[in-house]
Amino acid sequence: MKLKPDEQAMLDGREGAAKRKAMELLVRYAEALGVEEFVDTTNVAGVPGQANVFLRNYYREHGASYDAIFSLFDLDSDEIVEVPRVAVHACHLQGGVDPEHWDVLGASAEAAAISRESEAGAVERGIRILKTCTPYAAGNVPQKNEHCAWMESSAVVYCNSVLGARTNTEGRESASAAMLTGKIPNFGFHLDEHRRGTHAIEVAVPVDSVMDWGMLGYFVGDAVQERIPVLTGRCGPPDLVRYKHFGAAAASSGGVEMYHIVGRTPEAPTAEAAFGGRRPVEKIVYGEAERRRVYEQLNSTATDHDVDYVMLGCPHAALEQIEEACRLLDGRKVHANTRLWIFTSRAVRQEADRRGLTEVIRSAGAHLLTDTCSAIGQALPPGTKVAALDSAKQAHYLPAIMGIQAWFGDTADCIAAALTGRWHGALR
Ligand code: F3S
Repeated sequence: MKLKPDEQAMLDGREGAAKRKAMELLVRYAEALGVEEFVDTTNVAGVPGQANVFLRNYYREHGASYDAIFSLFDLDSDEIVEVPRVAVHACHLQGGVDPEHWDVLGASAEAAAISRESEAGAVERGIRILKTCTPYAAGNVPQKNEHCAWMESSAVVYCNSVLGARTNTEGRESASAAMLTGKIPNFGFHLDEHRRGTHAIEVAVPVDSVMDWGMLGYFVGDAVQERIPVLTGRCGPPDLVRYKHFGAAAASSGGVEMYHIVGRTPEAPTAEAAFGGRRPVEKIVYGEAERRRVYEQLNSTATDHDVDYVMLGCPHAALEQIEEACRLLDGRKVHANTRLWIFTSRAVRQEADRRGLTEVIRSAGAHLLTDTCSAIGQALPPGTKVAALDSAKQAHYLPAIMGIQAWFGDTADCIAAALTGRWHGALR
């Protein structure tokens, strides 16, 4: 590899043992990719040193301290090194446990204590504890062309496409190593030539609602897999929530890490710019038949109309989504046989607390939870067999991960299911 002097100094151990181990890992990663150089990264999002009951037990003979888990697990080191403060802006993405309501999620007191301890270790090292899959909605908004090293597919696709910042989908190990060194292999979405569109998507039906943006994303991801779609046509103006649902869905049904919407996203002022002057490899139309097929696909696991569980907030709910849920609850109570959990970030939850929204949700017999979600935390209300979801991403993963049925619809369908215990959703 072509190492710059500061990179060589870290690899030689002149910046301490932890940076040496981090550089060793990054060099192995780059060499495996056939990448010859690093790029400086100024914004890293990962799960540095995060512990859980399994890791605590696994590393017990090594003391299972923050340093031990960061060294042995994150840095794949054979020795325990003292982990210093991070070198660049670094944030902690979603974790496994709500720190205040872990018991609602069915977590043990031990799991909550371990999560608190590893969080304290991250705080000591200068890592911002956002604990969300939506860091861009919780104060971490990288600038256009800023080189980042982010985990979490729904955040990565937002970072590249909506913000015009540059990141590959990193793993825990590379993100933690990047936090200590400010380096990441220079390949993929860091480079102009890998950010250009490959597939043309003509949206032939109106796409305005959040649910429709999610379904469009699910269709597009399935159609292009890991390539880069360029959308034109009848999609209405997207906002943060619509981009969030579109990208999360496209990253679930396929592996979309970047997309362009002509006239909307920053690297697509024109279709020609989005494609970088090249011709699309394929042109695909999203019409009424495709829309119906996506809806049926997302509802294909469900047959039973009695709903045990309604989950909202995937990706983590924005304030306006929580407000909408509160409006729809309209002072009523969640059905006795059904549970309603809404997931969000700590930052949004604080605002929801201040505005009285958390209290509205609590009075309805529901919960506003943070840090995690049902898929990541593998947490469902006891006895759940049938869920209702307003997220295509969650409808994709939850039945597979937890072996349940899932209905997919809009937020109003889901709140209606929470209030009546029955699914009456339909494609409108
Ligand atoms: Fe976030 Fe969980 Fe969905 S971490 S993107 S709410 S699967």
